[in-house]
Amino acid sequence: MSEVILKIKNLSKSFPGVLAVNKANLEIESGKVHSLVGGNGAGKSTLMKILAGIYSYGNYEGSFFLNDAECQFKSIVEAENCGISMVPQDLNMVNEMSIADNLFINKQPRSKGIINDHKMLQQSQQILDEFGLNINPTTLVKEIGIAQKQLLVIARAMHNKTKVLILDEPTSTLSSEESQLLFQKIVEAKSKGVACIYISHRLDEVKAISDTITVMRDGCIIETDNAPDMSEKRIVSLMVGRDVDDFYPPKDRTPASCLLKVNSLSVYNQKFPDKKVVDDIQFDLYAGEILAVYGLVGAGRTEMAMGIIGGWRGGVSCDMEISGKKIINRNPSSALNHGIALLPEDRKREGAIDRQSVSRNISASSLPLFSKFGVIDEQKERNNNQKMVDALSIKTPSMDTAFETLSGGNQQKAILSRLISTKSKILILDEATQGIDVEAKYQIYGILDLLALDGKAILFISSDIAEVMGIADRIMIMRHGKVVKTVVNDDSINKEKILWYATIGTEES
Ligand SMILES: Nc1ncnc2c1ncn2[C@@H]1O[C@H](COP(=O)(O)OP(=O)(O)O)[C@@H](O)[C@H]1O
Ligand SMILES: [Mg+2]
Repeated sequence: MSEVILKIKNLSKSFPGVLAVNKANLEIESGKVHSLVGGNGAGKSTLMKILAGIYSYGNYEGSFFLNDAECQFKSIVEAENCGISMVPQDLNMVNEMSIADNLFINKQPRSKGIINDHKMLQQSQQILDEFGLNINPTTLVKEIGIAQKQLLVIARAMHNKTKVLILDEPTSTLSSEESQLLFQKIVEAKSKGVACIYISHRLDEVKAISDTITVMRDGCIIETDNAPDMSEKRIVSLMVGRDVDDFYPPKDRTPASCLLKVNSLSVYNQKFPDKKVVDDIQFDLYAGEILAVYGLVGAGRTEMAMGIIGGWRGGVSCDMEISGKKIINRNPSSALNHGIALLPEDRKREGAIDRQSVSRNISASSLPLFSKFGVIDEQKERNNNQKMVDALSIKTPSMDTAFETLSGGNQQKAILSRLISTKSKILILDEATQGIDVEAKYQIYGILDLLALDGKAILFISSDIAEVMGIADRIMIMRHGKVVKTVVNDDSINKEKILWYATIGTEES
């Protein structure tokens, strides 16, 4: 039998202008995994930071109890000593120091006041061994990967006999193998009676690993229930605060004339110039429609998009028309001139302009529209960008905030607003909702619907069948560089049919 080890009573914390946590009440049991889910800004991290002593006693209202004793932590070390450890979202390890130094930060073993290096190395080795981590404790932290850093923090917590282990979005940057290893460690901790509080926006993971799930929204605890009783649909409804039956906008769009006509497009492999990765495809894209492009990895969808906009670094042969007029895109800026804008698949590498403000990231592709004789009218630029931030509910402290500090969902909305700012008629989105939270996804669907209603033609590349079926007017299914089938997305379409075309790829007999 597990017991309640941690009781949270009426915890609140505000920052200037926002009530981040609003009278939260929660009970956490030992030997269980308790997941905390909610959109960005729901207050999950803030609540956890109170428990972990990051926001010390006096900087919040309400109280919390560990084994019925009230905690009033002055520091992280004090929380750890009482048995509450947190692996924060943004791991703050000192890169230039060794693993051993990081393991014992603020609590190095000392003899006569002097740090005992020998003892520290010995104990570090012991922690690593206990946890099955095959790394030398003298290695500098900057030389190990993020997954190993997270495991190190957990190893230290386990060594210190932690009672409550908090993991804040640990898998958002991990590969699936690394995530599996982490889950194994969570299960081990659980079997030792540790209470694990797990924060993630990956609902499939949450469903798989949790005993209990709590949903937060706008600083409030909305609901707590046993994991088996929390369907993904129910979780999402609670997170966004409305029924997910209308998670996708209604499809009452009426596509108009053909805007983009691809008569023939072939794209060649960069290394093997004879090999086609997109093989002579044809399709029409109408004003006012969302045409989804579904396919498995390697189907040629990204290559198709790059071929269309002239961004492919390899051979392309393309015959296409916009509104009946033949065009050639030699590079992405000529595509922009023709009214075609792309949201690239890899937001971090190709989309984001880091070390630039949110504002400039929004207008990066539309600066000519705000310039006269090559001089940017900054007021005009800012006005546009502020409008975008408001219209797309981009959560940012200010327009001048560094882009890379925004959450994934807000970064993606900012890049989408960059596309919209170009006033392009044709928008190509490549995996636009990958890795972003449910709330941001919901908002992006709504925005795409409005754009289509406004007469834009949208080519929506996605690997998520549910979203493809939720948002598209038509679905084009690709396999091995060819278009296998294009269907109208009506009641006759189901997941199995789409997967069948994407995997087997021939016409049904
Ligand atoms: N250090 C801070 N200063 C000001 N506002 C903050 C700070 N940390 C969080 N917030 C705000 O508090 C709210 C909750 O944030 P957070 O707890 O990080 O949410 P979550 O982890 O659920 O995404 C958000 O509106 C966020 O902008
Ligand atoms: Mg957070």
